[in-house]
Amino acid sequence: MQTHPITGLFGAEITGVDFGRPAVNPYAPGPEAHPEMTYIVKEAHERTGVFGGGWHTDLSFLDQPPGGSVLCSLEVPPYGGDTMFCSQQAAWDSLAPALKDLLDGRRVAHVGKPYGIKWAPPLEEQAMKGSTKRGDPDADRERMHPAVLTHPVTGRKGLYINPTYALRLDGLSEEMSRPILQELFGHCTLPEHSLRIRWEKDMIVVWDNYATQHYAINDYHGHRREMRRIAFWNEGLPAWAPEAA
Ligand code: SIN
Repeated sequence: MQTHPITGLFGAEITGVDFGRPAVNPYAPGPEAHPEMTYIVKEAHERTGVFGGGWHTDLSFLDQPPGGSVLCSLEVPPYGGDTMFCSQQAAWDSLAPALKDLLDGRRVAHVGKPYGIKWAPPLEEQAMKGSTKRGDPDADRERMHPAVLTHPVTGRKGLYINPTYALRLDGLSEEMSRPILQELFGHCTLPEHSLRIRWEKDMIVVWDNYATQHYAINDYHGHRREMRRIAFWNEGLPAWAPEAA
């Protein structure tokens, strides 16, 4: 990364920021020229849900979940439309020892189906009708990921589960997993583990998908909001490296 002063007083041009290889969202690809760029739009007249309107970690249902994401605001409502984040590492640090023992070394099945078909809301309630796709057979199959991730850069441990895509613990049925996962989801998203971003137009937020979940708040009916999001791979787990695929 290089920084070049624009004047002798203030301002700098930052170049050479390499986020890594972009990931395509199979449920919300961008236009043909930029399939990796998800267009997130809610029109003023829409009374639907919003894209990302549930706690999740981007694309955790892929074989190689992307390490980070960039979100940029093009148009924001006069109030509302904030994005919340929670720290999966703070959640791990404060987890009860018995739950740590249960999860460390265990895998969790992630599946895109809830967003795709399995628990998808009726069409009229879905966000971004027409630009999101359902029932992608590849995205809809289960992938196993560690319940506890050791971050490839910092070495810190964090939970790698989220209520949108994590379905069950390896070795347990969906029914048996449900109360444990519900308890964990509630713990991850405690206010003490969370922060809230208030958007202004032309802001950019970059986050680490191996250490966080996020949630788009749908509290601005009557106003338009337009964002662009790209998820990217950089320092993945060795097993998630593109070469290993
Ligand atoms: C997302 O990436 O899930 C969307 C977040 C937002 O629009 O605030």
